[in-house]
Amino acid sequence: MSLPERYAFIAEWYDQNAAIMRSYQLLYYASDNTVEMYDIKNRRIFLKRSKVENLCFEDLFIGGTINVHSRQLNLVEYADEFTKKQLSSKKEKTLAMIKPDAVAKFGAIIDMIYRGGFLIVNAKMTKLSRKDAEEFYQEHVQRPFFDNLVRFMASGPSIAMELMSNSAVTEWRRLLGPTDSSMARSEAPNSVRAKFGTDQTRNACHGSDAVATGQRETSFFFAAPGRWKNTAKFSESSCCVIKPSAVLEGNAGQIMMAIKEAGFEVSALQMFHLEKANAEEFFEVYKGVVAEFTEMVQELCSGPCFALEITGKGPNTANDFREFVGPADPEIARTLRPNTLRAKFGLNKIKNAIHCTDLPEDCQLEVEYFFRILAE
Ligand code: CMP
Repeated sequence: MSLPERYAFIAEWYDQNAAIMRSYQLLYYASDNTVEMYDIKNRRIFLKRSKVENLCFEDLFIGGTINVHSRQLNLVEYADEFTKKQLSSKKEKTLAMIKPDAVAKFGAIIDMIYRGGFLIVNAKMTKLSRKDAEEFYQEHVQRPFFDNLVRFMASGPSIAMELMSNSAVTEWRRLLGPTDSSMARSEAPNSVRAKFGTDQTRNACHGSDAVATGQRETSFFFAAPGRWKNTAKFSESSCCVIKPSAVLEGNAGQIMMAIKEAGFEVSALQMFHLEKANAEEFFEVYKGVVAEFTEMVQELCSGPCFALEITGKGPNTANDFREFVGPADPEIARTLRPNTLRAKFGLNKIKNAIHCTDLPEDCQLEVEYFFRILAE
């Protein structure tokens, strides 16, 4: 695809020293992968046009986070009509929700999402109350199935996700298949509902029905993060982070499936995009101990990661999970422990697919770091 020359965005950066949000016009030149930035308030060039390592066209979307020379910038708006026109359908967003009947199969569903060409830009496991479900499905209030639907949606955790792709609304509905799971099995046997749905109401997943609905529904879950409590138990659990490079490779669904197949439960899940300071804080125990500390931090904040709370093996959870993750170096893992997660999904010592808590006594601290401190 030959890309037109220049895309313009409004980008925000939180300046921790001054404790203020700074706004920039960010110009991206697709032909040579360069970026130029203007400080909007001070009306001057902030960054002369220069190459930015690891940045690519796919990273540029509203709501996305990019790293420019160690600064983490949030893209908040298109800054010209050309960019808006070019990108709004290519980078369309929709809400996907894994409903309570299919949460046990979330790994396989997330794998279908990645294989279907979508990017997951936000995700959170939460439990809807009856009131939440009534509000979410308000347009169906007069329908005979409403009460049943609301009761079902409040019966257990769901996973809300914001998906992005070319024509995401239509494409996700196509991958979902017909509302009625039996009809899905006869008409679209490879669809999500054919594979994981039960009937008309317990149909595995939800998808927004139009672009405007997608905006309303993604805001419902992701514009008011404080409203949605996560489902972490903070007891007899371990912390697992699927690192950005494994997410970028599209392996997150496969890794989640492998974790379930090994007999573990995932009692909380959320996508995070860590700031460098948070990654340093999280990995603090390795500072001065592991030679690759700087690269480990860089990897952890290089893109979105999934944090999972692992349970399911009582007091043995932490040790069993660490065994299952395997040696830190995937090359060693492939030789000595070929069935471990790092042997299967790790690329090298830094991009080793998974972080898991090393010491059982640190498990609660790490689970709390993601699901209490960062999440709140
Ligand atoms: P969803 O995509 O979440 O949007 C509305 C939900 O209402 C739908 O999936 C089903 O769970 C439920 N639903 C829609 N039509 C019917 C029906 N005819 N009978 C029972 N439940 C339905």
